[in-house]
Amino acid sequence: MTANFNVLLFILLSFALTLTAQEFSCPTAPITKDAGLTGVLPAGAKGQVQVPANTTCTYTFQIPKGFALRVDTTADYEVSMENSINFDNIFISPPAVNVVDYAMNTEVPFEIVSKTGDLAFITKYSYIDLSNYKQVIIPTGTHLNTTLDSNKYYTVKASNDNDQVNLQYGSRQSSVADLTLSEVFMFDGNDIFNSKYIGRVPSVYEKQNLFYSTSNTVTLVNLYGNPSSSLFLGNDASVIKTLNNYGVLVMDSDKEYDDWMYLLKGATVVTDSWYTVICKDCTTFSIDYMLFDTDKDYSNANGFVEVQGMTPSHKLQTMLHYQYSSSNNQSFPQIIPAPMATFHLYNSSFHFKLRPGTLQKDFDTSSGATRYVSSPQLWNPDAKSSFDYTFSDFNKNFNFSINLQSLKLENDGDSLNVEVGTADGDNSLDKKYTKTSLENQQIAGIGSYLKLVYTGTKNSTVLLNFEMIDMTETTVSMETTTKESVSSLPLWVLIVMTLFVM
Ligand SMILES: *[C@@H]1O[C@H](CO)[C@@H](O)[C@H](O)[C@H]1NC(C)=O
Ligand SMILES: *[C@@H]1O[C@H](CO)[C@@H](O)[C@H](O)[C@H]1NC(C)=O
Ligand SMILES: *[C@@H]1O[C@H](CO)[C@@H](O)[C@H](O)[C@H]1NC(C)=O
Ligand SMILES: *[C@@H]1O[C@H](CO)[C@@H](O)[C@H](O)[C@H]1NC(C)=O
Ligand SMILES: *[C@@H]1O[C@H](CO)[C@@H](O)[C@H](O)[C@H]1NC(C)=O
Ligand SMILES: *[C@@H]1O[C@H](CO)[C@@H](O)[C@H](O)[C@H]1NC(C)=O
Repeated sequence: MTANFNVLLFILLSFALTLTAQEFSCPTAPITKDAGLTGVLPAGAKGQVQVPANTTCTYTFQIPKGFALRVDTTADYEVSMENSINFDNIFISPPAVNVVDYAMNTEVPFEIVSKTGDLAFITKYSYIDLSNYKQVIIPTGTHLNTTLDSNKYYTVKASNDNDQVNLQYGSRQSSVADLTLSEVFMFDGNDIFNSKYIGRVPSVYEKQNLFYSTSNTVTLVNLYGNPSSSLFLGNDASVIKTLNNYGVLVMDSDKEYDDWMYLLKGATVVTDSWYTVICKDCTTFSIDYMLFDTDKDYSNANGFVEVQGMTPSHKLQTMLHYQYSSSNNQSFPQIIPAPMATFHLYNSSFHFKLRPGTLQKDFDTSSGATRYVSSPQLWNPDAKSSFDYTFSDFNKNFNFSINLQSLKLENDGDSLNVEVGTADGDNSLDKKYTKTSLENQQIAGIGSYLKLVYTGTKNSTVLLNFEMIDMTETTVSMETTTKESVSSLPLWVLIVMTLFVM
């Protein structure tokens, strides 16, 4: 009985020993798809294999075009500067249980460093054929998330064959970096099969602050499918190259966005900066306030901020112009009837608060404040070309002093109603505009509300601003102005014009 037990113990012990003592060898020849679509590291391993102390081993995988490599790693080791597992510059940290990673490099290293000898691992690998992946074309000026759909790859394409793509990404306000960006692979060209692989997103932007594709396309694929909150935005390179500094900011549809916009490009102060704010899953948002930095280095009377709809690639006209002021808070809130807007800072920086919104109809009045109202498609060509806004405070009496900057209502069915009145139904102003075209006409009415109702065709235009003068107090007029209607002029002309007007 005792003898039998000892034999059993001996067998068990030697079995355990052979398990952990499987010989570790480090092959120097690269691993290829042709040698097998699947395999295991170390070769022949059935479970985790201990790597002897003072071992550095680098396996090299070769990945043919049209394939990706998937590795599933289980590992245990003491994290120290000297023990590590690194695959395609991604550290696989312990304890790892079937941790999945992918790579699309033509040659990718899998490096094991065991200094202390306590590192054990097993990695299963497989080559994945991507030939069934379908292409989705995304035009410049359209954002996309980094949680790209499986079995699809995304090609961002410039609006002109001779142009290139400037691709940017923006992450939501958060203290931690969005690690899922490293799960997106970038190709400089039209597909994932023949185009040049240029790396995981963070590694591409480490090398260059601004990325421009070589041709008119850049392609993205995400094999991991983890949820990500960052967004990509492609712009036509010909537009972005004229800008001193350009960035993308992302806000959520359920959170206020409170931050600063600066004239900074890395550590360098530049004269101009442009930022596109993407309000994710919004149709509209509003500027709650924009407070200019009044610090002596930034309080420059010639400084300003301008806002245009959507992205620079849309080449829409400038809709708002705020000249530097230390007291412009009364100009807000200002509605932006588009899911994106591009801010241009010149010789100024400011603290802003943006609020996501659904289409708002009712607004408070505010003494001495100027508001800007326009047909939504001036902000966003895809917007419904109508609005219905009421500005009111039934406890007060205002002189609504309205400047019809530009009305172009030339199609049947185009109409703009402007009504000023009081709660008891007295209308001091009730105008209906149809089939008309006019510029800079002043009208005014006294009452406790102003109602503006517009329906029109896509190519009709309404651009107006109004001041609310409280009849019980005297107020000073604000320092803001909107740009004239100059829809056909490109952005650079506006900038040059502004510089000369100053
Ligand atoms: C590993 O290398 C270090 C430094 O060279 C040495 O002190 C140590 O004894 C080595 N360990 C083994 C197990 O060879
Ligand atoms: C990201 O985009 C894909 C494809 O457009 C969509 O299916 C998915 O729901 C989006 N994910 C998030 C988190 O918005
Ligand atoms: C900004 O404004 C200040 C003061 O008005 C001026 O001295 C400075 O040259 C301006 N900078 C640029 C880049 O225009
Ligand atoms: C600006 O206006 C907003 C909204 O009315 C207010 O919350 C904020 O405190 C104001 N800021 C300053 C500096 O007046
Ligand atoms: C209201 O404002 C308009 C335009 O500024 C002005 O012409 C008009 O005299 C004002 N009405 C009153 C009663 O103050
Ligand atoms: C504007 O659009 C309407 C209908 O959508 C069309 O009939 C009209 O010709 C267009 N006008 C111009 C100037 O393009």
